Amino acid sequence: MKKLVGVTIVLLLILSACSKEKKGDDTIDQKVKSVITRMTIDEKIGQLVQKNGGSFSDSLIKAGGIGSILNEIDVETQNQIQKIAREESRLGIPILFARDVIHGFRTIMPIPLAQAATWNSSLVEQGARVAATEAASSGIRWTFSPMVDVCRDPRWGRISEGFGEDTYLTSEMGAALVRGYQGEKLNDKTSIAACVKHFAAYGWTEGGRDYNSANIPENELRDVVLPPFKRCANEGALSFMPTFNDINGVPATGNEFLLKQILRNEWKFGGIVVSDWVSIIQLVTHGVAENEKVATRMAMDATVDMDMASGSYRTYLKELIDEGEITIEQIDEAVARILKVKFELGLFENPYTNPSDFPAMLNENHLAIAKKAAVESAVLLKNEGALPIKKNVKTIAIIGPLADAPHDQMGTWVMDGKKINSVTPLTAIGEKAKELGIKVIYERALALSRSKEISNKEAVVKAARQADLVLLFLGEESILSGESHCLANIDLPGAQEELVNLIASQNKPVATIIMAGRPLTFERIVDKTSAILYAMHGGTMAGPAIADLLFGIESPSGKLPVTFPRHVGQIPIYYNHRNTGKPANNTTWQKLDDIPVEAPQLSIGNTSHYLDYGFEPLYPFGFGLSYTTFEYDKLKIKSDKLAQNDVVEVAVELKNTGNYDADEVVQLYIRDLVASRARAVKELKRFKRVHLAKGENTVVTFELPVSELGFHNQQMNYTIEPGTFNLWIGGNSNAGLMTTFKVE
Ligand code: NOJ
Repeated sequence: MKKLVGVTIVLLLILSACSKEKKGDDTIDQKVKSVITRMTIDEKIGQLVQKNGGSFSDSLIKAGGIGSILNEIDVETQNQIQKIAREESRLGIPILFARDVIHGFRTIMPIPLAQAATWNSSLVEQGARVAATEAASSGIRWTFSPMVDVCRDPRWGRISEGFGEDTYLTSEMGAALVRGYQGEKLNDKTSIAACVKHFAAYGWTEGGRDYNSANIPENELRDVVLPPFKRCANEGALSFMPTFNDINGVPATGNEFLLKQILRNEWKFGGIVVSDWVSIIQLVTHGVAENEKVATRMAMDATVDMDMASGSYRTYLKELIDEGEITIEQIDEAVARILKVKFELGLFENPYTNPSDFPAMLNENHLAIAKKAAVESAVLLKNEGALPIKKNVKTIAIIGPLADAPHDQMGTWVMDGKKINSVTPLTAIGEKAKELGIKVIYERALALSRSKEISNKEAVVKAARQADLVLLFLGEESILSGESHCLANIDLPGAQEELVNLIASQNKPVATIIMAGRPLTFERIVDKTSAILYAMHGGTMAGPAIADLLFGIESPSGKLPVTFPRHVGQIPIYYNHRNTGKPANNTTWQKLDDIPVEAPQLSIGNTSHYLDYGFEPLYPFGFGLSYTTFEYDKLKIKSDKLAQNDVVEVAVELKNTGNYDADEVVQLYIRDLVASRARAVKELKRFKRVHLAKGENTVVTFELPVSELGFHNQQMNYTIEPGTFNLWIGGNSNAGLMTTFKVE
């Protein structure tokens, strides 16, 4: 009876709220309040609990003891659970089903790092829309994505899950994912809540070892690491997840400075903060809480609303309230934030999922978006003419462990993609070759990317000898990157270098395609192959995308979202470093082999570099070739004297001077020449992907508000100091036309 009255009251409240003219936040806030006033403490705590699928009983749902479930993707089971929540629990509060939908649900998009290489926010947004639609058709209304952890260390396995080393590019990509997931209307059945993670500085994990400490000065945190999070919050992201690691000694899950001061107070973020997997009780392991109960209080004090899987909120919160350690207001605020999201997603009105209301997974449109993303994410690093495949090529040898690895091409963090749906390069190239009458010979050579022995050397050599062109597919299996899959050595794994040498000794044209989850160090093979296409893990449609690129149906247009080191020992190496007092250049680089015997140690003339590996990377941030060539000309700035509230307006002429229609990613960088705190030698501030037919030219324009040129000064205030700025527009971080302007 009680239950019936409760449900009826809630329904009446909802209906009365819905019948009002005014829709939106106020109405939802009222609904939230009305529900909260009817909740018992146990029911309130229940909303703060997230359980893993299959780890609870129906009676707990009935008692209102669970707010969210992750990893339950069987729609029938979900609907049964939801029915208990809606119809048998006292207040009928729906469950929010969650899942890691990181780069696609069934149609797998390229890994996020590869998506960043597209520099195409609208395409990335479309990919997220596909992911959201497919996930929602499986009852998932909350994803733990985007991951916007800026990262300068390719040893870290999770570099694959983020958007690389740059703050602005990461911000744009993160915001695109938020828009794509959450759609135009949150209560649309295809909209899913985004969760911005991992707040913050996960990418700073020491030595690229996952979960490790992040030591970062506050100005760097605020200028480099936090802006993408803020951008996503401004985009309307409904939730945030604190990182596992400690930041300057304080683990994020109990970090009031990060969560309370910055996220809640400064940014006014009113969405859900959900802990990472059992990260609340890890506060004990970190050594900042004496026991789980203290950990629970710390997380609650830091405004972590929901406990993912640790069970500590369920076990200790009531006790902490009784003891006065946690106030009921704190609990109410957390509950309100969770209920608000449930109302916003329309879960009270439409709690159940009917997959037939949705477009089919892997439909033509979804696959087309996945393919386009894979095309635009591949970066051509070298081409001495082997690509695109020439008309006189009659026999192609496809060699290597990644040419036909349907599971691995999907990349890391794929929970619902199926390898059976992957189209591999071998299949796609084979089909195209058949159309063109080209013979294909295939030798895997290595069973796995990390295999230490070439399995059939004779056959590999024979294949290469018979071919007019060798397509060598190297890289990493998907499991070599991702969470907790970090590497101290990021060279091509296993016997891959030996394989390259074996092929190179056959004196045939070789084009190498590298499919990996991170930048690998492969300088030693660069001279042994006439072309290198860095395709990363391209997802379901990696094969057709690569085939189109190799055959010249598409021209490569991806640009590196992260600097590629020559050697692992150069890490961290990134484009937006500070100048130092002794910057290196080619004339000051003292090379190891040139040092005279018993040379004296001097200080004069020395610069910041390695004797053995210098100061430059293998490929700079933003770099990527095309089959065509682009020329930049006539960089014009509208005004070179600007006030703080002005907008920098610049234009440049871009011409496609080669023989292929193609896209170019035009990049705008600035440098603040003199400031109270030394600024980076370059900072990306804008970019545009532009399509030009061969011979065509256009004028590309940018607007950049002066307000975006600031930084956090020594008092930790965001400031734009007057002075001179350099501005470059070009095709990568190491190129471009330059102009200057003054901020007064
Ligand atoms: C741990 C990961 O750090 C996080 O990114 C993920 O969302 C959760 N587990 C849930 O699977």
